[in-house]
Amino acid sequence: MSTLAVLGCMWGDEAKAKVVDYLGGLADYVVRFQGGSNAGHTIHHAGQKYVFHSVPSGILYPNSKCVIAAGVVIDPVSLLNEMDALTKLGIQFEGRLFIDERAGLVLPLHQELDSSAEAGLGANKIGTTQRGIGPAYADHTARVGLRMADLLYPDWLSSRLEALYKHHKRELDPALVQKLLQIKTRLEPFICKADNLLQEAYLEDKYILFEGAQGSLLDVSFGTYPYVTSSNTISGGICTGCGIPPRMINKILGVYKAYSTRVGEGPFPTELFDATGDRIRIQGNEFGSTTGRPRRIGWFDAFAAAYTARINGLDSIAVTLLDVLSGLPELKICTGYWIGERKLTAFPSHPMELQAVVPEYLSLPGWDADLSDCRKLNKLPKAARDYLEVIQDLVERPLELVSVGPDRSQTIAIKS
Ligand code: IMP
Repeated sequence: MSTLAVLGCMWGDEAKAKVVDYLGGLADYVVRFQGGSNAGHTIHHAGQKYVFHSVPSGILYPNSKCVIAAGVVIDPVSLLNEMDALTKLGIQFEGRLFIDERAGLVLPLHQELDSSAEAGLGANKIGTTQRGIGPAYADHTARVGLRMADLLYPDWLSSRLEALYKHHKRELDPALVQKLLQIKTRLEPFICKADNLLQEAYLEDKYILFEGAQGSLLDVSFGTYPYVTSSNTISGGICTGCGIPPRMINKILGVYKAYSTRVGEGPFPTELFDATGDRIRIQGNEFGSTTGRPRRIGWFDAFAAAYTARINGLDSIAVTLLDVLSGLPELKICTGYWIGERKLTAFPSHPMELQAVVPEYLSLPGWDADLSDCRKLNKLPKAARDYLEVIQDLVERPLELVSVGPDRSQTIAIKS
C-alpha cells in the first residue's frame, strides 16, 4: 500500500506543486486536506503555466482523481472560476473531482471580515492573503459556519445564512441565497463523503498523494503564531482534514527551498535586507502567486527546518530552487539561535522570543555554474553538493529530491 504526503516545511511557497507534479504522475488520488484559495500552487507543464488555488494540482494527470477533503475551506465562486479556466485548457472534471460535503464554505462576508480584521489590527496585522480563510475557519470552529452539504438543503441554507449574518451583525442580501443555489447546481455532482472514498481506495491499494498547502511554520498550532494561517498544515492535519487514521500515511516528504522566504508579517530570523536578498528575489521570481506580493527573502534556516522535520515526522526531504543560488560568492546556513549568552535548544514558540534571536551561521562557498540542466547529483558543482549535504546533516533527514528549475524534468532524484 502506498500513500505519500508532500508537505511544505517552512512558511509556504516551497515549490510543493512542482514536487507533487514530479511524483504525482502515478497517483490514483491527489488530495488537498487543509487551507483554501489562499494557496497558489504553480506548475509549468508542456510550455503552459498553471496556477492552482483550490483544485489539487493532480488534475493535470488524466488518470488521477482529485479530492478536496473536509479540512479545506472552499470559496465556491473562486472554485468555479478556477474550474472554468482549467476546462478551457482542456482539463476534465467529471468523475475526477471529489469534494467532501463537510468542507467549509468561504463566503463574501468572510473576505470582508478578513479585510476589516487586518485593517483593525493596524501595525499588528498578520498580512493575510485576504481570501477570507481565517474568518471562515473561525466560523466553522464557532459552529456558525456553512458547509458544502448545506448547499443541498435550500431551507436549511437560508436559515443558517440568516443566523450567520446576524451573528456578525450584518444584513443578508437575499441574492446570495439564489447565487449559492445556482452554484449548487454546478457543484452537486462533485459532492461526496471523501473519507469513505479514501478509505476504500487505500484498501484497494491505490496510490494516494496528500498535497499540503502553506507550510509548517504557518501551522495554526505549531507555527509562528499569531503570524500563521488558520489551519493545521503539518502532517497531523492530514488525518483530521481527511477523516483517515495516522497509519494510513505511509511516507512523509518535506519540501524546503534552498533559501528561506516568507510573505506577510511576523519574525523571520535569517531575513536579508540587502542586495543579496534582492538578487535572490528577482532570480527566484519570489512574488506571491495568489497576491503578487514580493516575498521576504532569507538564508536557509536549518534550526527551524530541523524543528519542522520533527513535528511532521519527515521520512525524507526535497530541496527546491537550488539553481536560484548560482552566482552568489558566499552562502550562509543558520545552524542555531542565540539570545544573549543563551543558545536555544528548541524553536521559540513566542514571537517576542523569535524576534529577539540572533542566528548563528555556517558560511559556505557558492558556485557559478548554471544548474538548470543538471539531472544527476554528481553533475552538480562540488560547492552545491556540499551545500546540500550540510542541509541534510542539519535537518537529519535523507535528501530524496533536488529541484533545479520549474519544469518537471529539471529534477534530480537521489537513490538511497
Ligand atoms: P491567510 O492564510 O490568508 O489567513 O494568511 C495568513 C498568513 O499565511 C499570511 O502571512 C499569508 O501571507 C500566509 N499564507 C497563506 N497562504 C500562503 C501560501 O500559500 N504561501 C505562503 N504564505 C501563505
